[in-house]
Amino acid sequence: MKHLIDIKDLSVEEIDELIEVAKDIIDNPERYSERCMGKILATLFFEPSTRTRLSFESAMMRLGGNVLGFSEPNSSSAAKGESVADTVRVVGGYCDIIAMRHPKEGAPIVAQEKSIVPIINAGDGGHHHPTQTLTDLLTIKMEKGRLNNLTIGICGDLKYGRTVHSLITAMCRYDNIKFVLISPEELKIPDYMKKDVLYKNKVSYIETVDIEEHMGELDILYMTRIQKERFSSADDYIRLKDSYILDLEKLENAKKDLCIMHPLPRVNEISVKVDEDSRACYFKQAEYGKFIRMALILKLLNEKKINNEKENVEEKLINKITCKNLRCITSVEQELDQIFILTDKENGIYRCKYCDTKGE
Ligand code: CP
Repeated sequence: MKHLIDIKDLSVEEIDELIEVAKDIIDNPERYSERCMGKILATLFFEPSTRTRLSFESAMMRLGGNVLGFSEPNSSSAAKGESVADTVRVVGGYCDIIAMRHPKEGAPIVAQEKSIVPIINAGDGGHHHPTQTLTDLLTIKMEKGRLNNLTIGICGDLKYGRTVHSLITAMCRYDNIKFVLISPEELKIPDYMKKDVLYKNKVSYIETVDIEEHMGELDILYMTRIQKERFSSADDYIRLKDSYILDLEKLENAKKDLCIMHPLPRVNEISVKVDEDSRACYFKQAEYGKFIRMALILKLLNEKKINNEKENVEEKLINKITCKNLRCITSVEQELDQIFILTDKENGIYRCKYCDTKGE
């Protein structure tokens, strides 16, 4: 493994190993303070970020390395129309590893194909955000002491929330996990997540619109923001944005050792009064992100091998159908082949290689 695009690129063993390294970094930071001396991380952020970009930069600095990059596309040649492929090809000559965030789904796949250095997906539209998932897993391990035998409530935007999809995908690989999926009807978890992830892994789940209905059963409550930037209609956003506001009253029946998480930024989904409750873990979660990113940078810089096995065995359609997802990188990147991969042989379903949209 050389790049990290999707949390599924990591085996359970690799995730457990990253968590162990992160825990060792927390306990013994001095042992790691020169591990990346002479190495450079490039942070290419085509979309806003506070935690992901700054924790990556802090992680590399804490490892003794250096950082370069940009925090918004207007300060790069993307503003002049330069493609992701060209940007990455050029920046690879200036650094040893790249963390990239892009609003178009699948942009990091284009990047990994052109890059001579490891690519870390720091978020691609509503698609994947694997280092947030690693952050979440480290938080759960640190706060609950385990990654199995948990009832996890996830609340808010379960339709567009990339952190939600990646977290569910990752947690489904551990034993005895149950989900309580709390959302308005319009923002329910997509059917493909139910079929391809929950059902396939025989993981039980309940869907509800009521945040208090199952509060007393939860070990984890993962709150999410209704993301304005993912809505095409401003009216829909305004109608749904205040669907859930967690306050102390709603926590009355919650377990004493509930772990409240949120990938942040928060708008108003969690009352600031909850911040002082011992169950509020979201600021600690943001800090854990730095430690797991330190572990990830070390891992990727130490791995030379590119695993192309998956690439070789896949059945593909090339330039036979066009991706209909306007948020897909194929809608903007010049001369990018339209590649669809046979993901479900039984039902003859092909999905876009970049954004996973079903081919039609
Ligand atoms: N959680 C997260 O991705 O935060 P930022 O958008 O601030 O990076």
